[in-house]
Amino acid sequence: MAFDSFRDFVQTLDKAGELKRISQPVATELEITELADREMKSPHGGKALLIEKPTVNGVVSPFPVAINTMGSAKRMAMSMGAESVEDVAKELGSLMKAKPPTSIRETMKLLSTAIDLRHAKPTLVKDGPCKEVIQKFDAPSPATNWPAAPDWKKGTSATPPTLLNLPILKCWPLDGGRFITLPCVVTKDPDTGERNVGMYRIQIYDDRTTGMHWQLQKVGARHGRRYYESGTRMPVSIFIGGDPMFPFAATAPLPDGLDEFLLAGYLRKKSVELVKCETNDLEVPANSDFVIEGYVDPKEPLRDEGPFGDHTGYYTLPEPYPVFHITAITHRKDAVYPATIVGIPPMEDFYIGAASVKLFLPIFKMNFPEIIDIALPAEGVFHNLVFVSIKKTYPMQAYKIMHGLWGMGQMMFTKYIVVVDHDVDVHNTSEVLFHLCANTDPQRDSIFTKGPADVLDHATSEIAIGSKLGIDATKKILGEGFKRPWPPLIKMDEAVKAKMQSLFNL
Ligand SMILES: Cc1cc2nc3c(=O)[nH]c(=O)nc-3n(C[C@H](O)[C@H](O)[C@H](O)COP(=O)(O)O)c2cc1C
Repeated sequence: MAFDSFRDFVQTLDKAGELKRISQPVATELEITELADREMKSPHGGKALLIEKPTVNGVVSPFPVAINTMGSAKRMAMSMGAESVEDVAKELGSLMKAKPPTSIRETMKLLSTAIDLRHAKPTLVKDGPCKEVIQKFDAPSPATNWPAAPDWKKGTSATPPTLLNLPILKCWPLDGGRFITLPCVVTKDPDTGERNVGMYRIQIYDDRTTGMHWQLQKVGARHGRRYYESGTRMPVSIFIGGDPMFPFAATAPLPDGLDEFLLAGYLRKKSVELVKCETNDLEVPANSDFVIEGYVDPKEPLRDEGPFGDHTGYYTLPEPYPVFHITAITHRKDAVYPATIVGIPPMEDFYIGAASVKLFLPIFKMNFPEIIDIALPAEGVFHNLVFVSIKKTYPMQAYKIMHGLWGMGQMMFTKYIVVVDHDVDVHNTSEVLFHLCANTDPQRDSIFTKGPADVLDHATSEIAIGSKLGIDATKKILGEGFKRPWPPLIKMDEAVKAKMQSLFNL
């Protein structure tokens, strides 16, 4: 199901009883975080919140803030217009099964062909609601730093927004400022023209400049490096809102070169309509709520970005990143500002990440048919910890899976992989830990290796490089150095269970 706007999605959540409306004024500085964090820590992710009167420096913004909108399994499925993410994953898997791939490269080609089958290709249109209000900035800003909020007075909602008066959150007390937390950042590869949409948080420096936090290993950063090599200005556009499948696709670990709008179009069952930006030649969804256009100038020195209360549960300390200059802001008249917060898990991003894993599980399985299931427990904040169950048929197969996963896209960031047998429920952390403790001789069953690390990981001795630990918690078989008989797991007789159940009404 395609949503016409983020407001449309919020209204759907409301009708389904998945939304709490907060009608009293709440500050975008810390207060929205406190409310949202409580929801995100509630059982099954609580409710989405619509903050109807967010305040910026004490002034009520004309744009409501929607937060935690994808923060539960149900709302994540609703954002896809589906009963469950598993249903969507099954369909995607069966689309690709027609011709099993023989390599990862072929899998990815097949994925884009499969998605294409659904006529999901984006189309270019002349105009769209995201251009209902257009504000261009020709000259460099005379304004300096936050908290200046130029000529935006209470009640004058017709005043076009600037970066300083949009309801952008300051999430945590030690954050270096306000951050756009659900931005979809559009860039193009200058060599091939291939587009990328990635979610990279945006720190507001002043009314015309922001940070551009694309991490070292991300596609936006790779595009950026090409512009830095040639010294030419890099066009960048950021859009916020529209269909919830846009931010989802921007976070999905798609291979470099696969257009996120293709995935979004497939998931929403309607191709994405794009419009040309006003001040650069990039395209953004016509039904976005906000669009912020601009450029990165490779001749300009990098600037410290952060600190930021991150999804690791700790603050990420300042690191140098490119500066993004704004040339235009366009928006819908009835725009809703979507946001999220990250921090100590579980948070909304757990459900977003889990949906990605479910969706791409069929692809993992195609490359590794022995994989039964994969889980990224919330405690591992996305990719730190991965549980995998496999149907083991030959010695050392668990190690093949570890190496295979560490070599697959953003799985490279995984610090710990625990492989268990097919009958272990990887979504039950307690069950996995039981098998981990029971089935391993630590020295024999673990392997250390090295590789790239998440740049946000504060525990690695150096940024972006680190070590990895794989643990084989499967039952050991002949050829794995285990010479004793493997004991059976304790299980009650089925007949006795049934008898006691019926006798005592259990
Ligand atoms: C809420 C949220 C915020 C994120 N912020 C960042 C960020 O600031 N920088 C970054 O490089 N990745 C960030 N990510 C992860 C990327 O969006 C993710 O790795 C994505 O696949 C990158 O796309 P790319 O492979 O096209 O670069 C964030 C993810 C989520 C869910």
